[in-house]
Amino acid sequence: MTSKEIRQKYLDFFRERGHAVIPSAPIVPENDPTTLFTGSGMQPMIPYLLGEAHPKGTRLVDSQRCFRAEDIEEIGDNRHTTFFEMLGNWSLGDYGRKEQVEWMFEFLIDVLGIDPERLYVSVFIGDPTIGVPKDETAVILWQDLFKKKGIEAKFMDVGNDADGYTKGMGDARIFSYEAKKNWWSRAGVPANMPVGEPGGPDSEMFYDFSTPHDPKWGANCHVNCDCGRFMEIGNNVFMEYRKTAHGFVKLPKANIDFGGGLERIYAAALDSPDVFRTDLFQGVMQELERRSGKPYVGNEKAMRIIADHLRGATQMIGDSILPSNSEQGYFVRRLIRRAVRYADVLGLPAGTLHEIAPFALAPFAGVYDYVLAKQDSIVSTIADEETKFRETIARGLKHFQQLSGTTVSGQDAFVLFTTYGFPVEITEELAREQDMTVDRTGYEEAMKAHQDLSRAGAGQKFKGGLADHSEQTVRYHTTHHILLKALQMVLGPEVHQRGSNITAERLRIDFASPHKMTDEEKRRVEEIVNEQISARLPVTKTIMKKEEAEQFGAEHEFNADYPDMVSVYSVGPKDATADDPKIAKAFSIEYCGGPHVTNTEEIERGGVFKIIKEEAVAAGVRRIKASLAKVTDTH
Ligand code: ALA
Repeated sequence: MTSKEIRQKYLDFFRERGHAVIPSAPIVPENDPTTLFTGSGMQPMIPYLLGEAHPKGTRLVDSQRCFRAEDIEEIGDNRHTTFFEMLGNWSLGDYGRKEQVEWMFEFLIDVLGIDPERLYVSVFIGDPTIGVPKDETAVILWQDLFKKKGIEAKFMDVGNDADGYTKGMGDARIFSYEAKKNWWSRAGVPANMPVGEPGGPDSEMFYDFSTPHDPKWGANCHVNCDCGRFMEIGNNVFMEYRKTAHGFVKLPKANIDFGGGLERIYAAALDSPDVFRTDLFQGVMQELERRSGKPYVGNEKAMRIIADHLRGATQMIGDSILPSNSEQGYFVRRLIRRAVRYADVLGLPAGTLHEIAPFALAPFAGVYDYVLAKQDSIVSTIADEETKFRETIARGLKHFQQLSGTTVSGQDAFVLFTTYGFPVEITEELAREQDMTVDRTGYEEAMKAHQDLSRAGAGQKFKGGLADHSEQTVRYHTTHHILLKALQMVLGPEVHQRGSNITAERLRIDFASPHKMTDEEKRRVEEIVNEQISARLPVTKTIMKKEEAEQFGAEHEFNADYPDMVSVYSVGPKDATADDPKIAKAFSIEYCGGPHVTNTEEIERGGVFKIIKEEAVAAGVRRIKASLAKVTDTH
């Protein structure tokens, strides 16, 4: 069976049971400020899980392209991947536990042919403090299903991970665990959920590869043990609750949220514990073996990292996320640079990583063709990033070699990142090779201080600055300041920024305002912005005390924690100079780390300001997308 067949069989199975097949949402969520990436199939479904009607009905199925950034450093074992596809099906207040558990069992056992003796499950142990009981219903449902296959599935209470290692599994097949393992919400356990968030108990399914237990993890093996014997292949979430200020309440209609990694379900169907041996990675692995002249066995770690990172990077670039130093782009940069490092470890010729990228894309032909359509630009983006990295790596290595002692200080790791573009993991890997360690805490502190300083008035999402420092991006950044002021002039001084995102193609601002803008308001805002741009105003940066900036009424993010000295950018007045910025007479004043144009005439060269879209993103929050467009001379 191929990965394509498994994906298709799953979609067909649920389609035959009344589900509408919906397309994968983008890897970067459009309207979800809670997360950088879509990390599960349910994220794009939140409004519907909370009760909004879905246009396709109450039964949905899909295969969602996901990325889990937190897994980057776990890559190298046989099961973790950063990018993965989550097969998902949902009941939006339609069917319940019984149907879900029965269908899953049928799909895994009867459709995919998985041996039921190899299947184990976990359920929620219950939590009286939030009024949610032990999930005995699920236990009985699973027991009945196993019984039909002639298996007596015994149940055992476990508790937490440590209890699992102590108690082992006895002769049981169904186990109950605490919320950390068997409760699902985007925010994790009930205590971490913000008010309004939906969640519920879940029941996970595990495949037993029957490999021997490795006692380095704990005395006894249990389904949640990491030794590799068991692999979680799917999670049935009984999303029945919503957190309120007064505790948990039942949602008006109970939902089902199922998610299972395609890679893992496939590995289980093949009874092969290594997801990198499936056809999803085979092409890349063969290329790596051929080009390095080394076999997979013995070089698993490097090959898995390259294969995973190349796959993640190609998919992200396919979704227009380009390598950069902040936000999502930083992860693409890390993936490519780390893959380059391991390509070197493996002994691949420098500058050839991008030639392998098409093999990472190939398994998705006929599935995500919109990504494959961008193959050429994906390949050249990877090639460019490798070139950039090699340019800085040579200089960075010199810097690194000058370090002495057994520890790389946080400040040095910080400089290696900001000046030489070494993601901290690379510094750590270099350090390991020299028997040195990196002061990771010191590094995080240096990064944090840097972010505080450069926290742009343009919003916390910028982290260390703009997505990139290209000329056009910088133009958009200054335009963004002018736009915010223009919005305040047209819609009222109470308009403040709630979010922001700038790329070389456009700027985006989220701001608090109760109403949709009228055409006249949009026209007026455009007019003000263009007037300021063509007035050729100087843009000046001033470092001053926070109190002083406040007196000038500098625009800043509500509630943000600023250092005592802040950097402020002002646009105008006409006669402002660096020595005498005349801030009190400026058109716009914002706390910001920059960078900005030095005069608005540089924006003028980028084109004419135009609002492309004005829309709602959340209750009381509007979003504007705007761009600078060249006006074609018709004469
Ligand atoms: N949303 C659930 C998960 O990601 C299915 O595990």
